[in-house]
Amino acid sequence: MQRLSVLSLLVTLTEPCLGYYRRPPARHLHHRDVNVTYDYIIIGGGTAGLTVADRLTGNSNTTVLVIEHGELVDSPSIDTVSGGFMGMSDAQLMYDIMSVPQANLRNRTTAVLAGKVVGGSSAVNAMMTVRGTSEDYDRWGQFFSNGSTWSWTGLLPYLKRALNFVPPDADVEVGSEIMYNTSYWGNSSGVYAGWPSFQYPGTSVLLDAFRGMPGVQFPGDSGAGETGVYWFPTFMDPTKVTRSYARTGHYDRAVNRSNYHLITESKVTKILLDGTTATGVSFRSVAQLTNGTNTTGAVIMVRARKEVILAAGGIHSPYILQLSGIGPKKVLSAASISTIVDLPGVGQNFQDHPMLTAMWIYQNFTMRPSADDLFANATFASWADAHRYRQCAAWLSFPVISSRWAEIAANLSAQNHAAYLPAATDPTVVAGYSAQMKSYANALRGNGTAFYNNVLTGGSGSGAMVDLHPLSRGTVNIDTTDPEGREPVVDYRALTNPLDMAIMTEMLRFSRRYYMNNTHTARFSPVEVIPGANVTTDEQWAEYIADTLSPTEFHPAGTCAMMPRELGGVVDEELRVFGVKNLRVVDASIMPMLPGANICQTVYAIAEKAADLIRGSET
Ligand SMILES: Cc1cc2nc3c(=O)[nH]c(=O)nc-3n(C[C@H](O)[C@H](O)[C@H](O)COP(=O)(O)OP(=O)(O)OC[C@H]3O[C@@H](n4cnc5c(N)ncnc54)[C@H](O)[C@@H]3O)c2cc1C
Ligand SMILES: *[C@@H]1O[C@H](CO)[C@@H](O)[C@H](O)[C@H]1NC(C)=O
Ligand SMILES: *[C@@H]1O[C@H](CO)[C@@H](O)[C@H](O)[C@H]1NC(C)=O
Ligand SMILES: *[C@@H]1O[C@H](CO)[C@@H](O)[C@H](O)[C@H]1NC(C)=O
Ligand SMILES: *[C@@H]1O[C@H](CO)[C@@H](O)[C@H](O)[C@H]1NC(C)=O
Ligand SMILES: *[C@@H]1O[C@H](CO)[C@@H](O)[C@H](O)[C@H]1NC(C)=O
Ligand SMILES: *[C@@H]1O[C@H](CO)[C@@H](O)[C@H](O)[C@H]1NC(C)=O
Ligand SMILES: *[C@@H]1O[C@H](CO)[C@@H](O)[C@H](O)[C@H]1NC(C)=O
Ligand SMILES: *[C@@H]1O[C@H](CO)[C@@H](O)[C@H](O)[C@H]1NC(C)=O
Ligand SMILES: *[C@@H]1O[C@H](CO)[C@@H](O)[C@H](O)[C@H]1NC(C)=O
Ligand SMILES: *[C@@H]1O[C@H](CO)[C@@H](O)[C@H](O)[C@H]1NC(C)=O
Ligand SMILES: *[C@@H]1O[C@H](CO)[C@@H](O)[C@H](O)[C@H]1NC(C)=O
Ligand SMILES: *[C@@H]1O[C@H](CO)[C@@H](O)[C@H](O)[C@H]1NC(C)=O
Repeated sequence: MQRLSVLSLLVTLTEPCLGYYRRPPARHLHHRDVNVTYDYIIIGGGTAGLTVADRLTGNSNTTVLVIEHGELVDSPSIDTVSGGFMGMSDAQLMYDIMSVPQANLRNRTTAVLAGKVVGGSSAVNAMMTVRGTSEDYDRWGQFFSNGSTWSWTGLLPYLKRALNFVPPDADVEVGSEIMYNTSYWGNSSGVYAGWPSFQYPGTSVLLDAFRGMPGVQFPGDSGAGETGVYWFPTFMDPTKVTRSYARTGHYDRAVNRSNYHLITESKVTKILLDGTTATGVSFRSVAQLTNGTNTTGAVIMVRARKEVILAAGGIHSPYILQLSGIGPKKVLSAASISTIVDLPGVGQNFQDHPMLTAMWIYQNFTMRPSADDLFANATFASWADAHRYRQCAAWLSFPVISSRWAEIAANLSAQNHAAYLPAATDPTVVAGYSAQMKSYANALRGNGTAFYNNVLTGGSGSGAMVDLHPLSRGTVNIDTTDPEGREPVVDYRALTNPLDMAIMTEMLRFSRRYYMNNTHTARFSPVEVIPGANVTTDEQWAEYIADTLSPTEFHPAGTCAMMPRELGGVVDEELRVFGVKNLRVVDASIMPMLPGANICQTVYAIAEKAADLIRGSET
């Protein structure tokens, strides 16, 4: 009762009408039950947020509130493993955001996919579980010092803690030549890395075909931190054959802890600051009433005794910082938000993995079943729908795919990097970008960083390549016309660094050689359908790439970068926001540079490390 009366003072507008929620929450909270104060408030019940909440509430003396914009949803579109594609195509679980037109992509706009549901993007992703190479993680810490624990050896224990690795069954393991080494894995997490029981026999053949390409390695485990071609596991509970994600692995097992509260359908609009100390957050109910009206308007404030932890993901963490007056002064002023901490890097340094498509078809592909049967054979398709097939992919360094590595690396070193960022970018952000490009110039010369990614589909046609280390940098800023009411303005700025075009052209040329000029697959009679043999010069490839490139693989990152402040960084090595006390960011936005892999496994590891950092600083 006492709680209620205090809370009603904090409700500055209309109190939401309880009892009219479309989906009465089961074990999580109504607004009236929110306590006034918690030790920690976590903004965003997604991949990182739920992981940190689970670890912190493991101590029964620590109280935690997680505030999530989306709902707690039980749905086959989340659970069904079938490629993860059911979750991805369920608009109910996703933000509705379009990018700005991409000037170098014929002004195309792109859907910015991100999960809006308890579990966040881990509830809707394609379930590929891979990690970057050792160099990817060493690069992060080197911006601070050579002794930083943000390195391969420093992160490996957290990559192990992040997932529960269940080895493949012996028969399929032999059939598909899966190599694994449990020394790179752990078995204590509630989130599983499992191996589907089914695979296309053709995938092994396509894997072997990489033996026809000079220099390609075959590491002993997908998690060894090495470039090459390998099978990798899936975010799947191998017993239940359902998606394993932040909710199943970190919320369902913690839900009965009395020190843990989750409130859903609640959009955080501001981090409350006392001077430059974070003291809590304000949020707004976005729940719908059963009579069709919305409970918009109810603004509620909660206090954090110890810390506020921002885990709203690569798109929304910079948005919430900027709404709170923490960000580039120029952007905030344009939106009439008073600047509390001028932090130029917030929302800059935006990165995602660009995806290339082309099509090579094997006319004489006789392996059955193959991915083609998903379309050609309804019996097989309905069986396969319930399953996830095993996946194998190539993750190759630049010298392995192109003889032009020395020339492109030299051109990158010689660039005037500032010319490729938006005009009037803050000098600290430019300095950070230059430092990143220097480290990429080195990476292009060696074999320890993968630039080229090609996921083998096990069918007669293929051609989806990913540029694992784009050089161009975008922005995610508030919409100054209505900062709180509108989604942030997402600009990938794809291909703004012209060397991205050179790198991607070499990637397509390598793929053409792999499919069309490879003694291991000549018997399949390959033909190039798209773009066609008449596309050969740099200029022709550039036209083709501008026509077809996707600027995103749905891996938004870098917008609250962990880099020194003089390099445009937003958080320090303990993930604390520069210039603000008691505020950390823990999610994909802190990655200074993307790892050369799909990023979910790395996000879990970041969250596990963050939980240790937070608990360490409690003492
Ligand atoms: C369609 C798709 C496919 C993908 N496929 C793969 C894959 O196969 N393998 C892989 O490794 N990675 C994949 N990814 C990427 C990976 O899933 C994400 O990078 C990762 O889950 C991000 O974790 P996060 O904690 O940074 O953010 P999220 O998990 O997105 O969590 C952020 C949470 O914050 C909430 N939130 C945001 N704003 C607010 C607010 N104002 N108030 C309250 N709550 C808020 C959101 O609703 C969300 O729940 C994919 C992503 C997508 C979208
Ligand atoms: C919780 O706090 C009590 C009282 O201060 C203390 O006795 C107990 O050891 C603490 N428990 C944990 C798990 O820290
Ligand atoms: C893209 O949009 C800009 C600004 O509206 C315009 O100047 C340009 O001509 C357009 N480019 C294409 C290829 O349509
Ligand atoms: C790390 O070491 C390399 C050489 O080993 C050196 O060039 C670099 O300046 C060092 N970085 C820092 C931040 O000290
Ligand atoms: C597994 O990896 C470890 C290094 O982490 C290595 O020492 C060991 O030899 C490997 N085992 C096998 C069977 O390759
Ligand atoms: C990288 O691999 C290529 C292809 O095998 C090889 O020619 C080159 O010497 C390697 N470079 C380094 C630095 O090891
Ligand atoms: C909420 O407040 C009540 C009453 O003070 C307290 O008993 C409970 O532990 C609090 N719960 C959390 C999760 O903070
Ligand atoms: C919907 O229900 C709420 C809560 O009772 C009430 O305030 C509101 O007027 C209703 N709206 C309509 C259109 O009936
Ligand atoms: C309530 O909110 C939902 C989701 O934001 C929106 O689609 C709907 O139009 C709103 N309804 C009303 C009556 O405002
Ligand atoms: C279709 O798939 C089923 C189940 O995998 C298989 O038994 C059957 O032989 C397939 N039919 C054809 C025509 O390939
Ligand atoms: C095809 O591969 C052979 C052997 O590796 C090589 O000599 C030849 O130049 C390649 N042809 C093309 C068009 O790349
Ligand atoms: C097609 O594949 C079959 C079986 O692998 C092989 O015997 C045949 O020679 C191939 N045909 C062509 C035209 O390469
Ligand atoms: C290549 O040939 C196709 C089909 O004839 C044609 O549509 C396309 O414009 C040509 N492309 C180039 C770059 O010549």
